[in-house]
Amino acid sequence: MAKAKNMYVCQECGFTTPKWMGKCSDCGEWNTFVEEQVSPQSHQQKAAFSKNEPIPLNKIPMESSQKRIATGSEEFDRVLGGGIFPASVILLAGEPGIGKSTLMLQTLLKLSNSAESGNKETLLYVSGEESLQQLKNRASRLPYPSESILVLGETNILSIEHHIAETRPTVVVVDSVQAIYNPDFSGAPGNIGQVRECAARLFRLAKETGFTLFLIGHVTKEGAVAGPKILEHLVDVVVYFEGTTQQHRIIRSVKNRFGAANELGVFEMRHDGLAEVKNVSGLFINPHQEQMAGSSIVCSYEGSRPLLVEVQALVSRSNYGTPQRTVSGFDHRRLSLILAILEKYCRIEFGIHDVFVKVAGGLRINDPGIDLGVAAALFSSRQEQSLDGDAVYIGELGLGGEVRPVSFVDQRLQEIQKMGFQQAYLPAGNLPDQATKKKLSLLISPVQKVNELLFSDK
Ligand code: TYD
Ligand code: MG
Repeated sequence: MAKAKNMYVCQECGFTTPKWMGKCSDCGEWNTFVEEQVSPQSHQQKAAFSKNEPIPLNKIPMESSQKRIATGSEEFDRVLGGGIFPASVILLAGEPGIGKSTLMLQTLLKLSNSAESGNKETLLYVSGEESLQQLKNRASRLPYPSESILVLGETNILSIEHHIAETRPTVVVVDSVQAIYNPDFSGAPGNIGQVRECAARLFRLAKETGFTLFLIGHVTKEGAVAGPKILEHLVDVVVYFEGTTQQHRIIRSVKNRFGAANELGVFEMRHDGLAEVKNVSGLFINPHQEQMAGSSIVCSYEGSRPLLVEVQALVSRSNYGTPQRTVSGFDHRRLSLILAILEKYCRIEFGIHDVFVKVAGGLRINDPGIDLGVAAALFSSRQEQSLDGDAVYIGELGLGGEVRPVSFVDQRLQEIQKMGFQQAYLPAGNLPDQATKKKLSLLISPVQKVNELLFSDK
């Protein structure tokens, strides 16, 4: 049998090298290499064939459409694609202390409450990080009285597997995947090898026995434990805790094999757990504040719903050689592009200015439909003129300075009206038909080129 070798493994992406490196040449992260024993695949593993045979597709019986399990929280259901898909494997990742354990514990408690009235189901919470006493304390804060979920304080994967086989649960939460280990494997819990091995074993077990598995994973910047990124390809659904304001927690699905990805859910962290936030659009704008230069309202489309968000820009004269470009919640390269478009087609110079752009509420927006609003905020800060506080900007910018059409315009316009705004700037190619226009009491201002918007007399 081949001998096990010591290798350095990047805890972020899994890249291996025989020599230590400060920066991973694969993913570019710094200080993420940890020495691990990489054991070669055993002969047994290689020789084991499964019994599956290829069969004609039309011989597979049609299953009546799989019924999803409601989690008892509309926000969480939406992020999961309309409830839990039975026997799916879901990774829930986020920074320490953000509320992963709270969300999962309250979800299990709610599930058990709904199960109590109907058929009895076994729900298992495996806590590898907190003691059972801590878990009990947390549960006592939550307003879902239920004593019927099973809890297991265990980090050894072999014991966890044993208890799953014994209790035959329908839903299992493993908190966290970085705390559990396989004693037959070298390396401490949290090492990339251990994380991969334990997650793969649990995944296989979930698919074979047909239970739903939630894996909790920590996102850490230091690379001390393997990041959840390495498990994304394995699981069916990946949900990340995104930005936070003081009390709000945003979750987003970045992958979903059984539904649309990029769905957003918003909660508020209260003294008794995570409560749903109903009026999400109102959360990322501040309609009562005095209009400031550099602030604009955009309407982004996140998952399956429109969302009004405030974008803030600050353009100030740079005192140092190379001006800074700092963005949060928006793509860095898109900012450079928008600046270049403004310089070329609107003749506004940013060469000696620091530029900061921030999306309110810690949200991360990928929808290019907010380009026009970002351009308007940049222009407003650069010229030190506030924009009209009653207007919302929609549109993607093209390299020719043209404002390109976006999708779901009708839904966006309805949301803008619902939130009490008076005017919408939108791509000329997106003009709604007369019937829709009549239904809206908004002033609709079509824009063909970005310079028309910025230099028009409103
Ligand atoms: P937790 O779920 O332990 O985070 P994670 O598992 O992601 O590390 O959340 C911990 C934080 O949440 C902690 O700061 C306390 C706070 N919290 C509340 O504010 N209200 C509550 O009802 C609970 C249970 C926790
Ligand atoms: Mg936790």
